[in-house]
Amino acid sequence: MEKLIVALTGAGISAESGIPTFRGKDGLWNKFRPEELATPEAFFRDPKLVWEWYDWRRGLIAKAEPNEGHKTLAKIEKEFPHFYLITQNVDGLHQKAGSEKVIELHGNIWKVKCVNCKYETYEYRTPLPEIPPRCEQCGGLLRPGVVWFGESLPMDALQKAYELSRESLIFIVIGTSAVVYPAAELPYIAKENGAEVIEVNPEETPISRIADKIFREKASTGLKKVYDYLKDRYGAER
Ligand code: OAD
Repeated sequence: MEKLIVALTGAGISAESGIPTFRGKDGLWNKFRPEELATPEAFFRDPKLVWEWYDWRRGLIAKAEPNEGHKTLAKIEKEFPHFYLITQNVDGLHQKAGSEKVIELHGNIWKVKCVNCKYETYEYRTPLPEIPPRCEQCGGLLRPGVVWFGESLPMDALQKAYELSRESLIFIVIGTSAVVYPAAELPYIAKENGAEVIEVNPEETPISRIADKIFREKASTGLKKVYDYLKDRYGAER
């Protein structure tokens, strides 16, 4: 694959859309305990509590619009045919901004899965009419279609992400604290395989040490600079 450009996003890209990140001062994991809300054990202990939390987040996300950062990534995809986007986010804002080649590593908050018959569908109603929601096929308990702590990532998405990271020429890391594996490993794989690593993040992260270029700013402005850089580098020959 030639001139493969890959981006990895985290919660920081949606911060400017008003969606709280997980870590940091105003992060969700500062106010809530992940082991009570984002593990399979927590869900089976108290599905109502977990669903109430997801219902609240779904409400926040439903009101949010993609910001300039999401839009710039969608524009890069349109202009650079060998561009792929890997996201840890479950909010679907990349797709709402027009990105089509999106690999979702941690699932999607609009997806629901039956724990009994494994039926999967999208459920966009917010607030949900019934908590916890029930499967329309078998009446079983539905769970959010996201990856929780202690769970494996979807195999097809993860394999594709590894492959893209190995083959990328430019690997752009945006708005992730890069502490949750295996997603956090992808920039290292790209770097080991010769990619130029670019980071966009107002804060330092473990990736900063291996980054060839750093835009120490928000995704909205930083990604505009990344776009200009890609245009300069590949614009003419793309
Ligand atoms: P974090 O909340 O850990 O990190 C958010 C990152 O975004 C931080 O490095 C911030 O500095 C940065 N940031 C904040 N505002 C920004 C902005 N406007 N532009 C760019 N960057 C900004 O979020 P993730 O790294 O995505 O997993 O977290 C990884 C995973 O941990 C999540 O997918 C979730 C969570 O637990 C699951 O739910 C499985």
